[in-house]
Amino acid sequence: MKKQTVRAGIVGAGFSARFHYEGLRRVYGTDVEVKGVYALDMDQARQYAAEREIQTFDSLDALLEEVDVVHVCVLVAGHEEVAVAALKRDKHAIVEKPLTGYLGDGSDSFHGDTFPKEDALLHGLASVERMLEAEQASKGRIFYAENWVYAPAIQREREVIEKTGAQILWMHGEEAHSGSHNPTYAYWKYSGGGVMIGKGCHPLTAALYLKRVEGRARNGKPIRPKTVSARTQALTRMDNFRDEGHIRRDYYDIDDWSMMHVIFEDNTLATVFASDIILGGIHNWLEVAANNHRTICNINPNTAMQVYNPKESNFDDIYTVEKIETKQGWTNIPPDEDWFTGYPQEIEAFYRTIAYDEPLESDSRLAADTISTIYSAYVSAERKGAEVSVRAF
Ligand SMILES: NC(=O)c1ccc[n+]([C@@H]2O[C@H](COP(=O)([O-])OP(=O)(O)OC[C@H]3O[C@@H](n4cnc5c(N)ncnc54)[C@H](O)[C@@H]3O)[C@@H](O)[C@H]2O)c1
Repeated sequence: MKKQTVRAGIVGAGFSARFHYEGLRRVYGTDVEVKGVYALDMDQARQYAAEREIQTFDSLDALLEEVDVVHVCVLVAGHEEVAVAALKRDKHAIVEKPLTGYLGDGSDSFHGDTFPKEDALLHGLASVERMLEAEQASKGRIFYAENWVYAPAIQREREVIEKTGAQILWMHGEEAHSGSHNPTYAYWKYSGGGVMIGKGCHPLTAALYLKRVEGRARNGKPIRPKTVSARTQALTRMDNFRDEGHIRRDYYDIDDWSMMHVIFEDNTLATVFASDIILGGIHNWLEVAANNHRTICNINPNTAMQVYNPKESNFDDIYTVEKIETKQGWTNIPPDEDWFTGYPQEIEAFYRTIAYDEPLESDSRLAADTISTIYSAYVSAERKGAEVSVRAF
């Protein structure tokens, strides 16, 4: 079959725009023509474009004019606006996680600790609905860029579930490290919440996805979340936190530790931890306890490669692992960190769906269920862990 050419645009020129571009360079199922980049921070966009020898556009509209798909690599606050603008022009939108969020009421006094969390649920879901409506009315689609869905370990687990007809009884998982690098991450008004949404969305979406796979394989009906109980904490904002300089601690109004316990429609379970207080490099794992097998997906760290380095300075110009504090001693260096994390696979899969209409694993409904579960979880955390029902999409 002759390869199709897909015209791509990047919106945003920061951290995620970089790994999206690396993913684009590795797409092999289609030809990709990267038309250029647009970002609010035009200086950053120009530098990004120069490094990659692509064009800078001075408006989103001008970029949308020339592409089939845009990569929405902007802060959460801009996800809905950029995705809806693309869909209105019948273009596809690859949207980074989380799909959207509640950024507060815009007042100076807004504070993540004190506002009623029902507001986040109400307005977060209203934003989700507007995005789903825009998708419904468009020839374009929303592609939810949740790399965990495409991490090779999760996709192998999908195969196991599908081919053995497994019933998942409980999943537990975690995403954690010692603190996000992004200054805006410290504020609810930029991120739509704290670690429970920022990191918790990753293992949560993987768990929601695998229960969908289970139901789909059994009778074509995805098994969806029913209720959630959650706790959150701001450990590094406690007066008695003893700071030794290893863990970021300048958060303004967000949680840095969280636990979500989800009950699905069939009364099976998932428990997801997310935190910004874990040393030793990024910690991403999901364990599946099924009726006929047990799987531990070690996304990061894993033991594909283990390196012992007796002297820190030996590795001055060697990147090892995301967020690791030291390069001395033993390190589990992923031979290809992006690959284990699912970054290139998600981009490849999206371009295959765009070009050849292949089925889409990480779609807007999965993204919507994630938002719904997380903001219901914030309501639960406000009620000290009381069970809250989840509206599934
Ligand atoms: N999947 C992952 O592992 C992962 C990792 C990091 C970030 N992310 C997600 O990527 C998104 C962006 O995060 P980041 O770390 O790249 O941020 P960043 O601050 O590094 O970059 C954001 C970029 O978006 C631009 N921008 C912001 N609002 C805009 C708007 N409305 N229109 C156009 N440009 C706009 C800024 O100018 C900047 O260039 C977030 O949703 C974040 O959750 C995902």
